[in-house]
Amino acid sequence: MNYKKFLSLKEYNTFGIDVKSVYSFFCFNENELISFLKSDKGREEPYYILGGGSNVLFSEDYKGTIVLIKSKGISVVQENSNFVFIKAAAGEIWDDFVEYCVINNYGGVENLSFIPGTVGASPVQNIGAYGVEVKDIIDEIEVLNRKTLKKEVFLNKNCKFGYRDSIFKSELRNKYIILNVTFKLSKKHKLNLDYGNLNDELKLINNPGISDVRQAVINIRARKLPNPDEFPNAGSFFKNPVVKTGYFKELKEKFPELVSYPAPDEKIKLAAGQLIDLCNWKGKRENGTGVHDKQALVIVNYNNASGKDILNFSEKIQNSVFEKFGVKIEREVTLIN
Ligand code: FAD
Ligand code: EPU
Repeated sequence: MNYKKFLSLKEYNTFGIDVKSVYSFFCFNENELISFLKSDKGREEPYYILGGGSNVLFSEDYKGTIVLIKSKGISVVQENSNFVFIKAAAGEIWDDFVEYCVINNYGGVENLSFIPGTVGASPVQNIGAYGVEVKDIIDEIEVLNRKTLKKEVFLNKNCKFGYRDSIFKSELRNKYIILNVTFKLSKKHKLNLDYGNLNDELKLINNPGISDVRQAVINIRARKLPNPDEFPNAGSFFKNPVVKTGYFKELKEKFPELVSYPAPDEKIKLAAGQLIDLCNWKGKRENGTGVHDKQALVIVNYNNASGKDILNFSEKIQNSVFEKFGVKIEREVTLIN
């Protein structure tokens, strides 16, 4: 099997944290995965599943095996005149999958262009951007039960998808390994251009199509978000907080500039980036880490910060947002310790 001992994981997490795991196992298909899980290492030592490492923060060396999912394959499993069902392996790079869909004129996923990571991680936190979440296009998910080593299928309706959440991030966290995801895409497109400046970005294009939307999203993202190859980061470090309507009204009286969005159960979602920005964190640096100067929701590892440096820094931000606004902002990034 393809094991490496005491490999630095710096290249395998977009925060560029230089920690080691006892073993790293690069897993290219299901059979390899099952053999690993049946082996002594798989049964006895802790192991952690990693895709592209773009939504995790290692706070220390990992005392077990990091299993890097590298399985590949994209295929059409069913189609009719309106829809196409596409199965993609967990290890496919997410944006390669989006590009494949757009090139083949399959619509619904174009707003999710340019998000780092893998197909297998996409349902875990129900990735979202520019008015679309991956739950909108997932049909079903094929998983391996870590205890029984049997395959199971989760239909979309059983995944408990929510904002940056799913059953795989909450009650069944670390209980299943996602093997394949089947998506339902459209052949007759209905563009979703309601989010923020997406419409503005497209205003010079007559009758835009899905490839124009993909390009517009890429352009906006490239302007706003730091490229992890240059400025190591994991995207939004925190989730946007949701508050009760009554509390929002009180806040809005004190801070009329607050932006807000409707959320389920008649609650209100605030922009964590704006709250952090209003606490004057934008551009501030400390111990090799800092808040990005264009998007306050992104923490950057500017100069070989450790996972603990980043965690401590993030806690200061959480405390200052709580002091000023009385609002708790939760981590979006998963801590591995
Ligand atoms: P990893 O970071 O490797 O893993 C994340 C979690 O998923 C871990 O808990 C891991 O155990 C679990 N996991 C991974 N693969 C599997 C599997 N096969 N089976 C079971 N569990 C698994 N996210 C958004 O939602 N919207 C955005 O717009 C967005 N923008 C980003 C921009 C930048 C610059 C960066 C760096 C990140 C951004 N993210 C965004 C966050 C990140 O890209 C997504 O969360 C992505 O889905 C993570 O994929 P990954 O393969 O890197 O997962
Ligand atoms: N804002 C500020 N200052 C900042 C950052 C933002 O005032 O420093 C304000 C903006 O002006 C805007 C509002 O906050 O009015 C929202 O900002 P933006 O549109 O950039 O989106 P976001 O809420 O910060 C979310 C997602 C992103 C996703 C974008 C686009 C979360 C936690 N983040 O960011 O996802 O790409 O919307 O849909 O929901 C990620 O999850 O890693 C991620 C990057």
